[in-house]
Amino acid sequence: MMGTLTQYLAVLSAIVLTVQSQSTFTEYIERRLSAFEDRIAVWYDQTQRYSSEYREFKNQILALVDGLDKEREEQRRSLELATSRIERVEREMDYLETRNPAPACVEVDDKLIGKNADKASKQKKPKQVKLADCREMIASIKAMKIVKKLETTSGLWTKDLMSDSEKVYIFDGVGNDTIYEFARLRDLTDFSGLVKAKKIKLPYPWAGTGHLVYKGFLYYIRNEPEFQLIKFDLKNRTVADSAMFPAEQQIPVYSLSPFNFIDLAADEQGLWAMYATRENEKHICLARLDPKTLDIEQMWDTPCPIENAENAFVICGTLYVVYNSKLRSRSRIQCVYDVNGIVTNELAPLVYFPKRYGTHSSIKYSPRENYLYAWDDGYQIIYRLAMKQKSEL
Ligand SMILES: *[C@@H]1O[C@H](CO)[C@@H](O)[C@H](O)[C@H]1NC(C)=O
Ligand SMILES: *[C@@H]1O[C@H](CO)[C@@H](O)[C@H](O)[C@H]1NC(C)=O
Repeated sequence: MMGTLTQYLAVLSAIVLTVQSQSTFTEYIERRLSAFEDRIAVWYDQTQRYSSEYREFKNQILALVDGLDKEREEQRRSLELATSRIERVEREMDYLETRNPAPACVEVDDKLIGKNADKASKQKKPKQVKLADCREMIASIKAMKIVKKLETTSGLWTKDLMSDSEKVYIFDGVGNDTIYEFARLRDLTDFSGLVKAKKIKLPYPWAGTGHLVYKGFLYYIRNEPEFQLIKFDLKNRTVADSAMFPAEQQIPVYSLSPFNFIDLAADEQGLWAMYATRENEKHICLARLDPKTLDIEQMWDTPCPIENAENAFVICGTLYVVYNSKLRSRSRIQCVYDVNGIVTNELAPLVYFPKRYGTHSSIKYSPRENYLYAWDDGYQIIYRLAMKQKSEL
């Protein structure tokens, strides 16, 4: 793995040298890069310090890029390319951190990867009590863990969001007719690729990353020949129900995840759908679904823009929309909409995700665990949420 990092850095330093041979900071960058190469050699001892210095270095580069004036548009573009290389190195480091026992620089909880899965499942009772009252909202993201790297840029991974099942499901891509089922999380993390998975072939292909698994059923989106919601029984692998969805025009619901026209979410109280309509092209619409019949019970026009949204999820009846921008910024929850009108944008904290890689192509909230299962540019990530009472507002 040292080889991989050194190669990344070599490529990066080559790019930077070609582009910036006249520039005053070429030498500086070169010097810093070789320093980092040296440090990679003592990787295991220095993971923590190295990471934070690397980030500092990256921030300095970003500042320099911002400083370049317009005339040097060409240089600017190339440097932006270099920047994305830096981010890739950084992400690779994060992933490697989870693969070796060195201390990580973001708090990591073993429970996130199911090390204590047996114990955890015996302690599930108190959580169900909490589900009933549902007065919580997000306070912050407490921890993250990259559990897997699958290369496919966009996809979905999730557990059954409302059952004791340890099974994990992978939708590898943004459209196919086959999904992958793992008996437990460790079958995904401890073996390469998808070898430990059972394949489940669905009766109709799925489209996008808006699907979810809820109480033993897979709810998924089909968009050919028209938008349809399919409720699929994962036990006997039959279609339990299906419904047309009033999203007749193809308007992506998040501009940064354009493959999603309908996105399903589960919260403590039931099922939700986020979608866009021709009448309200600029803002995300929210609907509450009956999990049994798939009927739409109620609909809301939210004030949350589609522009620059990458994904969204619902907690206790509040929609949280995650935004990003094309160039180097961190994902953040920047719009909330509470169907009960308690949590408002002004009262909700601006929650930043710990790091920036690409765009989250899917984010699924698990009410039982207070986790987000996210797929970010080929990496499968768990975020652990810190919650607070709405009444503390
Ligand atoms: C589904 O994915 C597999 C593996 O990537 C691919 O071989 C197959 O052609 C895909 N099928 C469809 C219907 O897209
Ligand atoms: C599948 O299981 C559900 C309930 O578990 C049952 O209602 C349904 O009839 C079953 N379908 C088939 C084809 O066995």
